[in-house]
Amino acid sequence: MRQPLVVGNWKMNGSLAANAVLLSELKPLLANANAVAVAMCAPFVYLAQLSDMSSIGGFKVGAQDVSIHLDGAYTGETSAAMLADIGCEYVIIGHSERREYHHESNLLVAQKALAAQRAGLTPIVCVGETLAQRESDSALDVIGEQLSAVKSVLGESVLSQCVIAYEPVWAIGTGLTATPEQAQEVHQFIRATLGSAGVDTQILYGGSVKPDNAQSLFEQADIDGALVGGASLNAQDFFNIVLAANAL
Ligand code: PGA
Repeated sequence: MRQPLVVGNWKMNGSLAANAVLLSELKPLLANANAVAVAMCAPFVYLAQLSDMSSIGGFKVGAQDVSIHLDGAYTGETSAAMLADIGCEYVIIGHSERREYHHESNLLVAQKALAAQRAGLTPIVCVGETLAQRESDSALDVIGEQLSAVKSVLGESVLSQCVIAYEPVWAIGTGLTATPEQAQEVHQFIRATLGSAGVDTQILYGGSVKPDNAQSLFEQADIDGALVGGASLNAQDFFNIVLAANAL
């Protein structure tokens, strides 16, 4: 039985004051959705604040990136052990914005997932196709390659302990969402690619998830929750998405 999981991805948004307001609005709401695991992924500088507030807030803490290195002369990097040290349980790996703007390769994404997993964090491994790839019918090939790079570094059984997020690049921050059927087709493919252990893997959908489309996505057999960008910055919107997952 897979527990629904809803993860907020704040991206590069927030401030000490705005985060405190958002989390204090969210706290009483989340008490009404116990069946769902909830995590918030914040910029590095706010992880300590989130970690402090998570003890009273009913959510877990995640980062948005991690170094492949353990420690040492890597200016600007943050290790997986440091994330665990500050109270993180999750880390987003290979988000399409990092793949695109920071040229992260499938291999680097796999190495980051390994570093996270070795430090006891749960990697949220993002995969997804661009619009051109979807239109040329190569979405499943692209996603298959993204997954197989991670599988060859982590091994099948460890990969199945990660969270996988299917995020079609054309749906991120655009207001366009994959239809529930399009998303289900990819989620089913991902689960099949994970092998026998994939039956327990939480596979999230991400890409313009909003309160009004969450339920129809969550009704699909292989969609176990969501990775939520824009709507995670509004307590009521985010909670309404959590509530839709709570009914699964
Ligand atoms: P969005 O972002 O919900 O704003 O589309 C999702 C994501 O990038 O994780």
